[in-house]
Amino acid sequence: MKPPRKLHIKSYGCQMNVYDAQRMVDTLAGEGFVETVHADDADLVILNTCHIREKASEKVYSELGRLRAAKEDAARDGREMKIAVAGCVAQAEGEEIIRRAPVVDVVVGPQSYHHLPQLLRRAQHGGRAIETEFPADDKFGFLPQPRPDAIRARGISAFVTVQEGCDKFCTFCVVPYTRGTEASRPAEKIVDDVKRLADNGVREITLIGQNVNAYHGEGLDGRSCTLGRLLHRLAEVPGIARLRYSTSHPNDVDETLIAAHRDLPALMPFVHLPVQSGSDRILAAMNRKHTVRDYRNVIDRFRAVRQDIAFSSDFIVGFPGETEEDFSATLALVTQIGYAGAYSFKYSPRPGTPAAEMRETVSAADMDERLARLQELIDSQQSAFNKAAVGATVDVLFERAARNAGQIVGRTAYLQPAHVMAQLDIVGQILPVRIESLERYSLLGELAPSPHAHVSRSVPSQISIGA
Ligand code: 5AD
Ligand code: SF4
Repeated sequence: MKPPRKLHIKSYGCQMNVYDAQRMVDTLAGEGFVETVHADDADLVILNTCHIREKASEKVYSELGRLRAAKEDAARDGREMKIAVAGCVAQAEGEEIIRRAPVVDVVVGPQSYHHLPQLLRRAQHGGRAIETEFPADDKFGFLPQPRPDAIRARGISAFVTVQEGCDKFCTFCVVPYTRGTEASRPAEKIVDDVKRLADNGVREITLIGQNVNAYHGEGLDGRSCTLGRLLHRLAEVPGIARLRYSTSHPNDVDETLIAAHRDLPALMPFVHLPVQSGSDRILAAMNRKHTVRDYRNVIDRFRAVRQDIAFSSDFIVGFPGETEEDFSATLALVTQIGYAGAYSFKYSPRPGTPAAEMRETVSAADMDERLARLQELIDSQQSAFNKAAVGATVDVLFERAARNAGQIVGRTAYLQPAHVMAQLDIVGQILPVRIESLERYSLLGELAPSPHAHVSRSVPSQISIGA
């Protein structure tokens, strides 16, 4: 029998890439590949890349430089190491990668992962293979299901892609070009995936998509189904205790999604809802298609049905034409909303996007200074949010043994890591924890006596940051 070939995947960027990496592992398992954590001893290394900002793209080429040395070492030992570039840089710069990096054997765009085995065969014996088309066949129909042992090894929390791509065309963003226009999977397929995950011990599902709440897949009744309705259906799957979804656009928050937050205890009261800027002028230049007021109204609709709901967001500073006044409006919006956390980025021009043509660029010094001020404000909100948990008893879904011996780590409804001293058999359970202290971003606590420790549904937690 041939020994298994070793596969190493390095993923950059968003959750979609983490999910895609797992699907590539599942696809290549059928070809006799097993995963290894080391690139050096791998027979195949896949870089699953991100193109969202310039820094993310550049990492690919520096990593390829390192891999060239590893490939040469392998060749000296008489081993062949293949190198593939997948993900959004592959999609956007396929031909250029082939030209710039002779070390690369295969380039594969995000819509073609189900063709990886054929591409690898084409790249045998020194050939090179590239596929960055949007193929007519739907990759989801062809990607194999994960094996039960692979699901178990990945733990109790899983991502499931429900839609891909985006039709919004924000002027700064490459996603509509790299991931294509919006496409949703049929609800039945998603329910089947979730049942299979639940049967193998998964307790928490995060539905993912570049614009997840634009989901409109074919429903079980043959009609178009919204994200809210899909969540209602998934909440009925036995074993699923927590549901989440990411990333949402404010304009696609419909009444069924609000109703899902009102009606489903399993749907976690923590929503990532990027706004990008607090200035109407900049929002218009970004083609976000909503105003600050529209965004605040959306937040209010969530809060009206679920008082303990918390939000995170994404912000871009230094978008072309952003003045000090525009930036102050962003700070004011952050102050008004009160976030549990947020990501903030310096604007990075992406080739091919409309904003990359805009002339009124903001100086690097101004960008640095604004980013620092925004991050300081967000950090202070995040610390206040985390501190508010100290002294409270909150539900924690336990995930795994922590680094410190005897400790088990899990997450609260708000994704805060929480550590307790306990036996490993609590992994997979939701238990109330009395939070005693906060260490940087981690909560430390003690298991609280629970009259209903066996209950799988999460009970809404008590923390709220107060507007
Ligand atoms: N420059 C900086 N940040 C960007 N993002 C997307 N495109 C750019 C860009 N060109 C940020 C947005 C988005 C997040 C995933 O990345 O804030 O919500
Ligand atoms: Fe990019 Fe999100 Fe805008 Fe779509 S909605 S173009 S993914 S920033």
